[in-house]
Amino acid sequence: MSRIVYLNGDYLPEEEAKVSIFDRGFLMADAVYEVTAVLDRKLTDFEGHVARLDRSLNELGMAMPLTRDELLEVHRELVKRNDVVDGGVYLQITRGAPSDRDFVFPDPETTPQTVVLFTQSKPGIANSPAAKTGIKVISIEDLRWHRRDIKTVQLLYPSMGKMMAKAAGCDDAWMVEDGKVTEGTSNNAYIVNGNKIITRELSHDILHGITRAAVLRYAREAQMEVEERAFSIAEAQAADEAFITSASTFVMPVVEIDGAKIGTGTPGPVAARLREIYLDESMKAAI
Ligand SMILES: Cc1ncc(COP(=O)(O)O)c(C=O)c1O
Repeated sequence: MSRIVYLNGDYLPEEEAKVSIFDRGFLMADAVYEVTAVLDRKLTDFEGHVARLDRSLNELGMAMPLTRDELLEVHRELVKRNDVVDGGVYLQITRGAPSDRDFVFPDPETTPQTVVLFTQSKPGIANSPAAKTGIKVISIEDLRWHRRDIKTVQLLYPSMGKMMAKAAGCDDAWMVEDGKVTEGTSNNAYIVNGNKIITRELSHDILHGITRAAVLRYAREAQMEVEERAFSIAEAQAADEAFITSASTFVMPVVEIDGAKIGTGTPGPVAARLREIYLDESMKAAI
């Protein structure tokens, strides 16, 4: 059965949702996006995603085309119309479709933004088998642009990173710049030593993960120590545990980096506990 998607104010069957070939999202990756997880038909961390969307748009000189309440209504309507129990809502806003290809930004008065939202159904994501076995990552050089804090749709290099990981028989890649891990291809990266969680500090070098903010808050509330600083692959390989966070994987243990087992080579207790706390608290706060 085809999905009902949202395009510029209309709810349409996915086959009927069409965007211009001149759309700047398509031609220039001139677009930002968000992915909000759906658990038990409810939206998790919605306010965080709206706040980051607003920031990304601002950084690129784009307006927010819908209010927070309108965005919430569209998210909820799509979850309902597509009967999504678990999964996510993808949202993308582009600078619109001018009448021709041009590097210069179009006048927003005459070129409205393109707003697209669609759902992705992933039944049982909270009980993903990967969370029990952990994932394996490789390290690759971070070749992305230097405003990774803006959530743009320029995802070619992260996509290539995932393919490199796949070719190496692994699940994902951690990107490294100046000898230190920035983040995963679509997630933030962490290591654990004893009761201490270490993750890179916020800057233009990484995406300011909404899951990251929530997990660090829960970790501090659970009396765990949090150190926000960069770490190397060698330090990660020698750590007790490693894990990643994102809206679609929540907290996911990493059990191998570049062929070296982390700790015992099985998911560690800190990652497991944080995953449980994150899922519990997110479900409670979901709207
Ligand atoms: C590069 C990158 N880092 C981190 C994240 C995690 O962010 P969030 O927790 O908001 O999903 C993502 C998510 O897509 C990402 O693409």
